[in-house]
Amino acid sequence: MVSTVQKPEFDEIRPGVKVPAKETILTPRFYTTDFDEMAKMDISVNEDELRAILEEFRADYNQKHFVRDEDFNQSWEHIDGETRRLFIEFLERSCTAEFSGFLLYKELARKLKTSSPLVAECFQLMSRDEARHAGFLNKAMSDFNLTLDLGFLTKSRQYTFFKPKFIFYATYLSEKIGYWRYITIYRHLEQHPENRIYPIFKFFENWCQDENRHGDFFDAIMKAQPQFLNDWKAKLWCRFFLLSVFATMYLNDVQRSGFYASLGLDAREYDKYVIDKTNDTAGRVFPIVLDVHNPKFYESLETCVSNNEQLRQIEESNAPAPIKFLKKLPHYLSNGVQFVKLYFMKPIDVTSLEGTVL
Ligand SMILES: [Fe+2]
Ligand SMILES: [Fe+2]
Repeated sequence: MVSTVQKPEFDEIRPGVKVPAKETILTPRFYTTDFDEMAKMDISVNEDELRAILEEFRADYNQKHFVRDEDFNQSWEHIDGETRRLFIEFLERSCTAEFSGFLLYKELARKLKTSSPLVAECFQLMSRDEARHAGFLNKAMSDFNLTLDLGFLTKSRQYTFFKPKFIFYATYLSEKIGYWRYITIYRHLEQHPENRIYPIFKFFENWCQDENRHGDFFDAIMKAQPQFLNDWKAKLWCRFFLLSVFATMYLNDVQRSGFYASLGLDAREYDKYVIDKTNDTAGRVFPIVLDVHNPKFYESLETCVSNNEQLRQIEESNAPAPIKFLKKLPHYLSNGVQFVKLYFMKPIDVTSLEGTVL
C-alpha cells in the first residue's frame, strides 16, 4: 500500500501559485482614498508627536528581524489534512492583509511627498514594514508549496474607497487589533511551546511592535485632526468601525476555530480577549468604546455565527440558485437585525476619561 500525505486541493493560477481566495464581506480589503483631501491636511497641532514617531520608524528596530533561521529548514508534510488547509488559509489571509497595508501606505507616501513630507515619510516607512511582513508570510506559504502572486493581487482586487477620516478609523483599528492578535498568540505559545507547530510564531513579538507603532501613528494623526474625533458624527462612526472590525474578526475566527485549536487556543476565548484589549486601547483616542462586557454583545454575535453556518450549508447544497436565495434570505435579514441591535447597544463614553490609562 502506498502511503500518501493527505493534502488539501487548492486552485492554482500556474504551478505553485495559488488562486487568491474569493472576496467576500469577511475577507481582507484593499483601500483607496481622496489623496487631495489628505494632502491638504494640517497636522501642525500634533507635529511634535508625529516627528517623534517618525524618528522611531527611522530607527528601524526590525531591520534584521525578518530573517528565516534553521528552524524553517525541514519538511512541513506532517501538517496535513484540515490543519494544513486552515494553516495555508491563515497565511494567505495574513499576507493579503499585510500587503493591502503596504499598497495603501506606499500610494499615500507617493501622493503626499511634496505637500506633506513628514506624513509621507511615515507612510513610506510603514509601507517598508508591511512589505517585510507580507514577504515573510508569502515565503512561509512557499514552505507549503504555494505562494501568492502579489502583482496579480494588486491588479485583480477591488479597492474600497474611504474618505480620509474613515481610512484613519479603519487603519488605526486594524493596526491595533493586529498588535493584540500577534502578541496574544506569541504569549500563549511562549507558555505552551509544544503547540508551536511552525516557526513563524516566534517572530510575532517584534513583529507586533511594528503594528503597535503604526497604530500610534494613526492615533497621533487623528489627534492632529480633532474634528475627526470630537463631534456626534465621530461617535457614531467610531461605533460603526469598532463593531465592524470586531464582528468581522469574530465571525472569521469562530468559523476557523480548528486553526486556533491546532495552536491550543480556543477561538472564542482568544477573540474575546483580543476584542477586550483593542476596545480598551481604542478608548485612548476614540470618543466612545463598545460595551463588550454586556452579555447581549456576544449573544448577538453568536446568532450571526449560526446564521453564517446555515448560509454556508445552503450554499453547498445542490438546490437551484433561486431556491438557495430564498433559503438564505431569512439568515441575511437576521444578520442585519443583529448588526442593528449591536450598533444601538449603549456605548461607553470615554471623552470624560481622556488622559487616563485604560
Ligand atoms: Fe504588518
Ligand atoms: Fe501595520
